Parts: sequence; C-alpha cells; structure tokens
Amino acid sequence: MANPGMMVGATEGRLLTILARLCNARLAVEIGTFTGYSALCIAEGMADDGKLVTCDIDPDAVAIAQRYFAESPYGHRIELKLGPALESLDTLDSLIDFAFIDGDKENYPAYWEKLVPMMRTGGLIVVDNVLWSGKVLNPVESSDRGISELNARVVKDERVEAVMLSVRDGVTVALKR
Ligand SMILES: C[S@@+](CC[C@H](N)C(=O)[O-])C[C@H]1O[C@@H](n2cnc3c(N)ncnc32)[C@H](O)[C@@H]1O
Repeated sequence: MANPGMMVGATEGRLLTILARLCNARLAVEIGTFTGYSALCIAEGMADDGKLVTCDIDPDAVAIAQRYFAESPYGHRIELKLGPALESLDTLDSLIDFAFIDGDKENYPAYWEKLVPMMRTGGLIVVDNVLWSGKVLNPVESSDRGISELNARVVKDERVEAVMLSVRDGVTVALKR
C-alpha cells in the first residue's frame, strides 16, 4: 500500500488507546480507516462490548484493514463502513463517546460540525494533522484551508474545551461540554 506515512504511528496510536480508555468509550467513530492501524489502537482502549465504526472510501485500503481486524483480538469491536464518511455518520443514532477525525482534510470543518452535536457530554473528539507540517499558517491548497478553518472554529467553539498537542503532526483533543 502506498503512503504508509498516513498511519498515525506508535506514539499517537498509544495516545488514542489511552484517550478511548479514559473516556470509557462504548461507541466510537473514526473518519479515515486506511489500513486499520489507528482503528485497532482505538478499539484496544474500548470495552469488550464497545463498538468502533470506522469509515473510508478506499476499497483497497479497507480490504487490508479487514485482514488485520480479523487477526486482532480487538477486531470484533470494529465495524467498517465503506463510503463517504458524512453519509456513514448519518446511519448512527446513538450518542458518540469518542471520535477520531483523520480523513480528507478539505472536509475537516464539515466533519467537526457534524460530529459535535452527536457527541455525549464528556465525549472526546480527537483531530489529526492539525499542524499539517506548518501549512496551516499559510494555506494554499484546499487541504491546507480545511485544517486551518477547522483550527479557527475549534478555538471559538464554546461547545467544547480543547487543547492542541504538538504530538507528531499536531493533535487536537476536544472535550464536549
Ligand atoms: C490519513 S489516512 C487515515 C489513516 C488512519 N487513520 C491510520 O492512522 O492508520 C486518510 C484516509 O481517509 C480516507 N478518506 C478520504 N476521503 C474520505 C471520505 N470522504 N470519507 C471517508 N474516508 C475518506 C482515505 O481513503 C484514507 O484512507
């Protein structure tokens, strides 16, 4: 699979596991499965009867993820949805405890606006690549603009309490009030 750098990596993966565990996640959502690494990290931190719904549009990546989920002791906690994440989120009808945004950067503001009302009080939204290698400071491409706009929204959003961590390419952790 091309672009292995899209995976969150070991340090951020541990952070996801711990945050999912800390908020006692029973229903979690991930936007951007890729080959399944971050999904397995989140699932590891969940209760055994918890469910992570992970969304991706790439059938090749998802096929690889399915193989790893089948081999993992945490794989039974994961449900894969193939298709645009904004549509997949419409199929959920329970409050979400934990959400991880790591899909197409252009849609970050749309994912944020969709997810915040779907979160339970005390739930966590984690957003990856919020530093975007510094490109958020001088946005040129649509992906730069998407993340930059998301960052501006998060700062002003009184529905959450948020912090931006300088882990890897920048990770925002937001607690739903
Ligand atoms: C950075 S990768 C995710 C990496 C993964 N979270 C990990 O750490 O292993 C981003 C993924 O978002 C997916 N994606 C792009 N547009 C999407 C959309 N509209 N809905 C859902 N997934 C999308 C891509 O196919 C890609 O696999």
